[in-house]
Amino acid sequence: MPPVIAIDGPSASGKGTVAQRVAHALGFHYLDSGALYRGVALAAAKSGTKLIAGTALERLAATMDIAFSGDIIYLNQMIVTDEIRSEAISEAASMVGAIASVRLALIARQRAFRQPPGLVADGRDMGSTIFPAAGLKIYLTADAQERASRRCKQLIAKGLSANMSTLLQDILARDERDSVRAAAPLQKCKDAMLLDTTNLSIDAAVEQVLARYAAVKQVP
Ligand code: DC
Repeated sequence: MPPVIAIDGPSASGKGTVAQRVAHALGFHYLDSGALYRGVALAAAKSGTKLIAGTALERLAATMDIAFSGDIIYLNQMIVTDEIRSEAISEAASMVGAIASVRLALIARQRAFRQPPGLVADGRDMGSTIFPAAGLKIYLTADAQERASRRCKQLIAKGLSANMSTLLQDILARDERDSVRAAAPLQKCKDAMLLDTTNLSIDAAVEQVLARYAAVKQVP
C-alpha cells in the first residue's frame, strides 16, 4: 500500500497549508478531508437538506460531485473554493462532522485518495480512524488565540470583514464540538508527533514533518 502521512489538528491550525506543502515536497497526493465535510454542508445548504441524521444527508455525502484541481474545489461542476471556507460553512461542516452516519458514508471516498506514490491526508481522524496504520501521524496545533488571529488576517487579506472576538468564540465552539463528539472525535493519537505551531513558521513546521518522515521511512 502507498505510504500515508496523517496530519490531524483543530480548526485554523495551519494543518492544511503544512499538509499541502509536505505533499508537494514529496510528490504525494493530498487529501483535504475537511473539504468533504464542507462539501456536504454546502450541498445541504444549496438543496435545503437539514443537518440531521437521516438518509438525505448521508446520500449527499456518498454521492455529491466534489472534485479537486490544485487549489480549486468544484461542487457539482461549480467553483466553490471560497464559499466552502466561509464561517457559516465552517460551522455547518463541524455540525455535519458530528453525525456518525455521514462519517461512515465518507470513509471509502477518503481512502480512495491513497494512491501511489503516497498520500498526505489532513483532518481530525486521519490517524485514528481513516488511516490508523499511517507510517507517520502528526498532531498539529496552535493556541486558539493565535489560530483566531491567523484566520482574521486571512479574511482581511481577502477583503472580507473580520472580528477577532467572534472568530475566537467560533473556533473555541468548533474545537469543543469536534473534540467531544462520540464519532471519531478530534484527538491526539498516542503514536502521533505533537507539533505546536504557535511560535513556529509554516516553513519550520514543514521542515519538521519532512525530517520526521525521512527518519521513520528508514525504520524497516
Ligand atoms: O479541517 P476543516 O476546518 O476544513 O474542517 C471543517 C469541519 O469538518 C471541522 O470543524 C469538523 C469536520 N471534519 C471532521 O469532522 N473530520 C475530518 N476528518 C475533517 C473535518
